[in-house]
Amino acid sequence: MILANIPVPHDIPLPLPVDRVILQAVIVLLFLAHIVFINLMLGGAMFAVVFECIGLKRRDFDTLAREITHTITVNKSLAVVLGVGPLLAINVLYTVYFYSANALTGYVWISIVPLVAVAFLILYAYKYSWERLANRKKLHLAMGGFGVAILLFVPLIFLSNINLMLFPDRWTQVRGFLSALWLPNVWPRFLHFVLACVAVSALFMLAYFTRAGYPVETKFQGLDRPNLRRLFYGIAFGATLLQLAAGPLVLFTLPAQGLSVFLYAVIGTGAAFAVAMLALMWWEILTPRQTAGRFFVPIVALLILTGSAMGFGRHVYREGALRDHRLAMEQRTQDLAYAAAAAKWRADHGVAVEDLPLGQRVFRDVCSSCHMLDRVLTGPSIREIAELYKDDPDGIVRWTKAPTRKRTGFPAMPAFDRPTEQLRAVAEYMLELAAPKKEGLSPES
Ligand code: HEC
Repeated sequence: MILANIPVPHDIPLPLPVDRVILQAVIVLLFLAHIVFINLMLGGAMFAVVFECIGLKRRDFDTLAREITHTITVNKSLAVVLGVGPLLAINVLYTVYFYSANALTGYVWISIVPLVAVAFLILYAYKYSWERLANRKKLHLAMGGFGVAILLFVPLIFLSNINLMLFPDRWTQVRGFLSALWLPNVWPRFLHFVLACVAVSALFMLAYFTRAGYPVETKFQGLDRPNLRRLFYGIAFGATLLQLAAGPLVLFTLPAQGLSVFLYAVIGTGAAFAVAMLALMWWEILTPRQTAGRFFVPIVALLILTGSAMGFGRHVYREGALRDHRLAMEQRTQDLAYAAAAAKWRADHGVAVEDLPLGQRVFRDVCSSCHMLDRVLTGPSIREIAELYKDDPDGIVRWTKAPTRKRTGFPAMPAFDRPTEQLRAVAEYMLELAAPKKEGLSPES
């Protein structure tokens, strides 16, 4: 990584509350638990709306959709609760990265809170108005569709944030959420995520509707257990198969920084579990009705292994991608600590380092961020200023206390309400600086 073009802040030099490794484990494990319930919530909501559509023609599917809505709100609550842990741990462990990403997507990031609240309320209304709106299906479907649309939008905000967090070199390029949204890795990851929602939810529904205690016979007219099993296996199989295309897309749109043989090994292992899962599901779909279902537990075990490998791979990549930047940041933090210690020592021992003239000091502290001798920075060059205010330092003082808008293409200069003595000194210093014969002064010093 070429760090020259990348903003490298220094870290917040506070001790971590617990060991790094523990925080990392918390992030990986709780995030997996969180994302499973997010998958179930979003997948469930999508299934409910799609099945309700099919239910317009086939009653059983309307029943199926309605039954599914009972699971959505429970899964939603678990998803939210389990999301708090990793969010806090990320804040502690990746403070600078997470904070920067959040700040760069600003309003959109914070809008997650009202968006999610609205989506949840809509989904409750969707669930509880099933009977009341039985004759107004279009309205009811629109309600469900709207809830799903919001829930699908929220991960896009997260994914653009994650992309920003991982790649500090992009902090200077993006202009808000919409430009972050088009970072190359965002949409492939979104696809990967949505397919995971479908696959995970399908297996969950399979277990839910074919479990021993569930009264399939009384609930449905035509659908029976083998039908349901085949339906959900079919969906899970299709979504997982598509993952084999979406997965590599995610991997190849990641910046090379952070890719490693170890990462490929981890992801490859996950993919191998997924292929084994596909084989077993295929077997289940083709197998005669009576014997089907006995591979369900191994399939779920393989799903858990796949998810764990992918979740761990996600962490390995993040650590790899941020490594150079973090080292640079550690260096900065150390420099800062040395500088602070040195300043303290000087203060304690009454050693003054700054015997600079007042004007030079004020210039360095206040004006130098925008004005340079020969170059246009944020403001005009000192040469230009000196020409305008030849022998008139008081003119500079007046301007500095109350600047007006003058040049097009420049921002407004802020007013500096400092003691006249200081401003007078800095004005003289500026004029001196631009005067031809003077030597030994430089605005950079
Ligand atoms: C945040 C950036 C910034 C800082 C800090 C800043 N300036 Fe400026 N300055 C500007 C900009 C921008 C202009 C041009 C404004 C315009 O023409 O509308 C400007 C213009 C000027 C001018 C030209 C006025 C004219 O009549 O054309 C003077 C003199 C000046 N600054 C003095 C100072 C002094 C003295 C300080 C420090 C006390 C200072 N500036 C600090 C941004 C800054």
